[in-house]
Amino acid sequence: MKIFVTRRIHESGINMLKKAGFKVAIYPKDEIIDRSTLLKNVKGVDAILSLLTDKIDEEVLNAAGPNLKIVANYAVGFDNIDLTAVKKHNVVATNTPSDKVNEAVAEHTFALMLALARRIAEADDFAKRGKYTGWSPTLLTGVDVYNKTLGIIGAGRIGSMTAHRGVLGFGMKLIYSDTHPNPALEKDLKAKKVSQTELLKKADFISLHVPLLPSTKHLISDKEFSLMKHSAFIVNTSRGPVIHEKALLKALKAKKIAGAGLDVFECEPAIDCDLRDNLELKAFPNVILTPHIASSTEEARRDMSEIAAKNIIAVLKGKKPLTPAK
Ligand code: DGY
Repeated sequence: MKIFVTRRIHESGINMLKKAGFKVAIYPKDEIIDRSTLLKNVKGVDAILSLLTDKIDEEVLNAAGPNLKIVANYAVGFDNIDLTAVKKHNVVATNTPSDKVNEAVAEHTFALMLALARRIAEADDFAKRGKYTGWSPTLLTGVDVYNKTLGIIGAGRIGSMTAHRGVLGFGMKLIYSDTHPNPALEKDLKAKKVSQTELLKKADFISLHVPLLPSTKHLISDKEFSLMKHSAFIVNTSRGPVIHEKALLKALKAKKIAGAGLDVFECEPAIDCDLRDNLELKAFPNVILTPHIASSTEEARRDMSEIAAKNIIAVLKGKKPLTPAK
């Protein structure tokens, strides 16, 4: 049976697939595969190991043909996969929701939060440019994270892990909004479930942990920024389009919020969707940008590779997938 892997990934999963006796072809370049190469390479395969940068839709499924049984996405998120089309073709879609991935994303979320609060990127730039001439009582003053209110929007696995860090690690108070209650969070961390409006009004640090769905696209836009405290920071390690970039730029320009930490961008891989408004995220010192690396740790990448491989092995052996995308 044949498997096509759309980019070089951690080798541990690849080795598992080979050991299981499958023929594994990997797109050899370390770059996003172009559409025509993707369509050509999936022809006749039994499984596709895809990345979040590959749009898996009707066209890809048709190009693959009737042998295709599984699309194993190398990510927790799977908004790149058309689930209706996949179902129609009787193909299984899976993701990689492992604890290691979730921990890695939660850690990165906190790295952004601390970097915003303590102005780490500005301070690094200042020091490296040789501007430090001696200790100053007013130099690069930040704010405490301790005792502040953390507002988690989307209290699923990653949201909960971020919440644990905030409460247990940094003595933060916790509020969250979600379509479902999270009793464990309420019991273990004394979290309070509030409406999104209340959360936006009260939180000092707002962290987004929702999947990208039609209902969460532009979840944070003009109205939402207008509710936030002027001292609030927002962090996004979920998906770029959850924040309406134009509204964020307006809020930053008008100093409606204190800053933003972004690992994901609305028009990814572009950092800015549109420069016609003469505003760019890169221009704000109180905006910290990382290039979608929240889950990029050795441990998480290995796990993602192995989970994707285990899903493929299970499905190609006629068993149920471990982590179906749902
Ligand atoms: C995910 O897993 O969805 C991340 O965004 C990619 O690492």
